[in-house]
Amino acid sequence: MILRDATIDDLETLQWWDEQAHIIAAGPPTYKWARELKRKPEWREQLIAEQEGESIGFVQILDPSGDPNQYWGNNVSRKMRAIQIWIGESYNLNRGYGSTIMNMVLERCFDDDMVNELVVDPLSTNAKAHRFYTRLGFKYMETKKFGEDLCYVMKLKRASYFNE
Ligand SMILES: CC(C)(COP(=O)(O)OP(=O)(O)OC[C@H]1O[C@@H](n2cnc3c(N)ncnc32)[C@H](O)[C@@H]1OP(=O)(O)O)[C@@H](O)C(=O)NCCC(=O)NCCS
Repeated sequence: MILRDATIDDLETLQWWDEQAHIIAAGPPTYKWARELKRKPEWREQLIAEQEGESIGFVQILDPSGDPNQYWGNNVSRKMRAIQIWIGESYNLNRGYGSTIMNMVLERCFDDDMVNELVVDPLSTNAKAHRFYTRLGFKYMETKKFGEDLCYVMKLKRASYFNE
């Protein structure tokens, strides 16, 4: 598995994935891909996980302190990163890909000494994602409303990651 930058060449793939039932159920993505894939703001990485040439999933690593949309609020620690992940095709679920990808993402994030905590915000109804993140060491912090969505905020601290 490798992580590479998402580019405009991934447009069709990402739009197709947006239509998949398991992705819609997790909270429909609202990205305007044609625009987003053409820009690379320093507060965000958009990555494709690829296995032997096949695009498997999407990952976004966000520095919420730089995010002009202030999704995570307007007074967020610069040491925090927010992660989003999805596996594109339903036939690629439950094969361990998500865990492999997230382990790569955790390593990539904590490789930056500045970063001391990672957050995710699965829908409160997304029990599969809660199990997934818990297995990876994330801890439930609170239930929070983001727009219309009720989400669990789950956190993985650097100390906890390296002590495991
Ligand atoms: C959450 C998500 C990323 C997990 O990805 P995944 O590749 O299915 O994750 P894994 O395969 O590593 O683990 C999922 C399950 O498969 C099991 N599994 C892992 N490897 C396996 C294997 N080789 N064979 C069979 N089962 C396996 C795990 O034990 C786990 O079981 P559980 O659901 O009963 O807890 C994926 O379900 C997804 O994209 N969901 C939609 C979007 C989403 O919810 N994103 C996160 C919230 S924003």
